[in-house]
Amino acid sequence: MKILKKFYSKKNLVYLLEDGQTIAVYKLFSDSGNYLKEKKYYRMFQSTNLAVPMMLAHKNENNSILLEYLQGETVLDLMEQHEKNLNYNEALNLLTGVFIWIKDFHELKDIKSNKLSFYDLNLRNFILRNSTVYGVDFESIREGDLLSDTAKLIGMYLNYDKKYSAFKNKTISDFKNFIVENHCFNMENLEKNISDEISVINNRRNLKSNVI
Ligand SMILES: Nc1ncnc2c1ncn2[C@@H]1O[C@H](COP(=O)(O)OP(=O)(O)O)[C@@H](O)[C@H]1O
Ligand SMILES: [Mg+2]
Repeated sequence: MKILKKFYSKKNLVYLLEDGQTIAVYKLFSDSGNYLKEKKYYRMFQSTNLAVPMMLAHKNENNSILLEYLQGETVLDLMEQHEKNLNYNEALNLLTGVFIWIKDFHELKDIKSNKLSFYDLNLRNFILRNSTVYGVDFESIREGDLLSDTAKLIGMYLNYDKKYSAFKNKTISDFKNFIVENHCFNMENLEKNISDEISVINNRRNLKSNVI
């Protein structure tokens, strides 16, 4: 068995492994509660059409799961490339792809009936493979709804470097118009939720810089 790559993770150890002909992602959790939670959601999602990797194995002894490798790029990397190339349409399409994944997530029976949300709208948690957006990372699922997740997605995107760039502002302005036209939020309500989420992001940042 060979480690091909270590993925970026703040909390856990996530590796790309090769074992003979097989390549898979190995995620070793630092917290057993999070391991049990993510394993539960992987099991739940395997029987649905939600685009997630297959869970190939799990090990209770060391809180680890083995996942199908999604050979693609993270949405964060792609959004950065689109910004560099000033490719608004591609950026808007990709963000819409993430929104559609979140909508699919909220349509699942167990998510809807328990009023849950994806919650961790870090753009590294979405991978584009063969033109399909996949979601990974289910440790943070908690109460919320489609509106709170959509507002988080927008708040998170605007706060990646370079924050609130003209490119990001334009992409988000078009994205907001698209979702207001096509889905049930009104602009006022959406704006209010976005500014609340941005306050949460700023408070989290200030807290961190005070510690350092
Ligand atoms: N099945 C997968 N296929 C490809 N890359 C993956 C897969 N699972 C995770 N990754 C990569 O590893 C990173 C960390 O995994 P993630 O589950 O988000 O861990 P964490 O909870 O520590 O953030 C992700 O941002 C993604 O880039
Ligand atoms: Mg993650």
